[in-house]
Amino acid sequence: MPDNAPTQLIDSFGRRVTYVRMSITDRCDFRCVYCMDEEMIFMPREKLLTLEEIAFLMQAFCELGVEQIRITGGEPLVRKNVDGLMQQLGALKQTTGLKQLTLTTNGSRLSRYSQTFYDAGLDRINISLDSLKPERFKQLTRTGKLDTVLAGIKAAQQAGLTKLKINAVIMTGRNEDEIIDLAQFSLEHKMDISYIEEMPLGHVTHDRQESYCSSDTVRDTLKTAFNLTESTVTTGGPSRYFHIAGYDNRIGFISPHSHNFCASCNRVRVTAEGRLLLCLGQEHSVDLRHIMRAHPNDMPRLKQTLIKAMAIKPESHDFKIDAPQPIIFRHMSVTGG
Ligand code: 5AD
Ligand code: SF4
Repeated sequence: MPDNAPTQLIDSFGRRVTYVRMSITDRCDFRCVYCMDEEMIFMPREKLLTLEEIAFLMQAFCELGVEQIRITGGEPLVRKNVDGLMQQLGALKQTTGLKQLTLTTNGSRLSRYSQTFYDAGLDRINISLDSLKPERFKQLTRTGKLDTVLAGIKAAQQAGLTKLKINAVIMTGRNEDEIIDLAQFSLEHKMDISYIEEMPLGHVTHDRQESYCSSDTVRDTLKTAFNLTESTVTTGGPSRYFHIAGYDNRIGFISPHSHNFCASCNRVRVTAEGRLLLCLGQEHSVDLRHIMRAHPNDMPRLKQTLIKAMAIKPESHDFKIDAPQPIIFRHMSVTGG
């Protein structure tokens, strides 16, 4: 790179990218109804970025000013040697400007990995939890066991991973009667919680228009039990946060159908096969795997590619829940939550 080359990732709308969500696998041990079909075809393993490629890519991002990395999937903990990767990424906090290493998981393998992750420097974990009823949990995830996830949460807290957040996708007719119970659970366990509107990502077996439950509905339900006050905190993402008097916990609402957050968007995503996605709701992408395999260990070239890619980050996304077909054919497990 020439000496005067930019050292930060700034898009054509002047937004600086400081946050990368990296999907390390499209596979998962659950089959959540809103996320996957019962039968899924996963990517052949050779198409996935290797753990070495992922670590190299994350180093490039961090050297270009990225301050937060979130590891996602699929279910990232089904990837072999995910603990070694976490250690490598944690080390970037010493050598680059990386400040926050975070993880999104379904919690099924947290018992096994919590201590290593804590030691590696993992800062925060988001855990998907849509029901506290064992039978229903099984139905919603098709293969998951509630007990295992609850044990995973406990293990994380015991290991010192105390910054935990629950992600709950609320669906009409499925779990909207647990809105208050899920909040109560998170308050009791000193966790934050975010309620997520279902997004039209990929084909699933149910009718998303029927199950769609808006953040406004969720908020109205919570107001019947709690005194909610809006917080001024923003994270550059599609969340609005509230507090309940007497508790430190945050209650968030993720409303991807709103365009309000696009102007402050600070993030990009990388799929498990190494496609850089510049916006969750748009198909604009750059094939980073191709570049890394054609020019192995070429850090200057990789950084130049990332800088140039910023030019195609679109101004805003384009979701429609009432569209007859999914607008985006990628499942969330491919994109990374
Ligand atoms: N709509 C909304 N949320 C989804 N997730 C997965 N698929 C969808 C979808 N279609 C959620 C998971 C997880 C988070 C990363 O994304 O529940 O909590
Ligand atoms: Fe797996 Fe998460 Fe998708 Fe559920 S939502 S199937 S846990 S990737």
